[in-house]
Amino acid sequence: MSTWANLGLQDSASPLMEQLIFFHDHALLILVMITVLVGYLMFMLFFNSYINRFLLHGQLIEMIWTILPAIILLFIALPSLRLLYLLDEINEPSVTLKSIGHQWYWSYEYSDFNNIEFDSYMIPTNELATDGFRLLDVDNRVVLPMNSQIRILVTAADVIHSWTIPALGVKVDGTPGRLNQTNFFINRPGLFYGQCSEMCGANHSFMPIVIESVPVNYFIKWISNNMNS
Ligand code: CUA
Repeated sequence: MSTWANLGLQDSASPLMEQLIFFHDHALLILVMITVLVGYLMFMLFFNSYINRFLLHGQLIEMIWTILPAIILLFIALPSLRLLYLLDEINEPSVTLKSIGHQWYWSYEYSDFNNIEFDSYMIPTNELATDGFRLLDVDNRVVLPMNSQIRILVTAADVIHSWTIPALGVKVDGTPGRLNQTNFFINRPGLFYGQCSEMCGANHSFMPIVIESVPVNYFIKWISNNMNS
């Protein structure tokens, strides 16, 4: 999760988020190089006193400074396109989770396992444990196995919500009447926090998501405990 003075991206917990961070750094590097170059040229213009009375056109330099930026843009566009298709790739998921956005809470269904379903509400500040995270913890967490391909189906019951977990690089809109799909692979155990990120009404800020990433045998234990009840 994000903590104080953390201005950058969160540490990744999935291979796709790792790739997103690499792409972010790559794009930022190009951005800085362009800003420095253009900034330098603009600054130096103030001190330029050269005049050429016969200069009307310069075909060559205009060719260069048109094509060069286009080539630079390709260095951003191609990795971006690669990532776009990589994010959409689904590779034989072993668990499917369905998350439904409501005003203002999430509900979850594990359709593979005897249709386990539950609601997940934010814990109000006055009921929060001393080690709890305010506005971020929920009463029922989403338990998922680590080191497994997980498919997420997102929809909503009333207005548009968005199921967003920064550490996993997941952000999918839940739209009434539609079923959106995404997938991820959590590569370490831990708690991963997320929040709704579509403006869904008065309590939009109060429908967080908590994923509890556990080893596969713990997940099986959790799932079988919940199937009996
Ligand atoms: Cu649901 Cu914002």
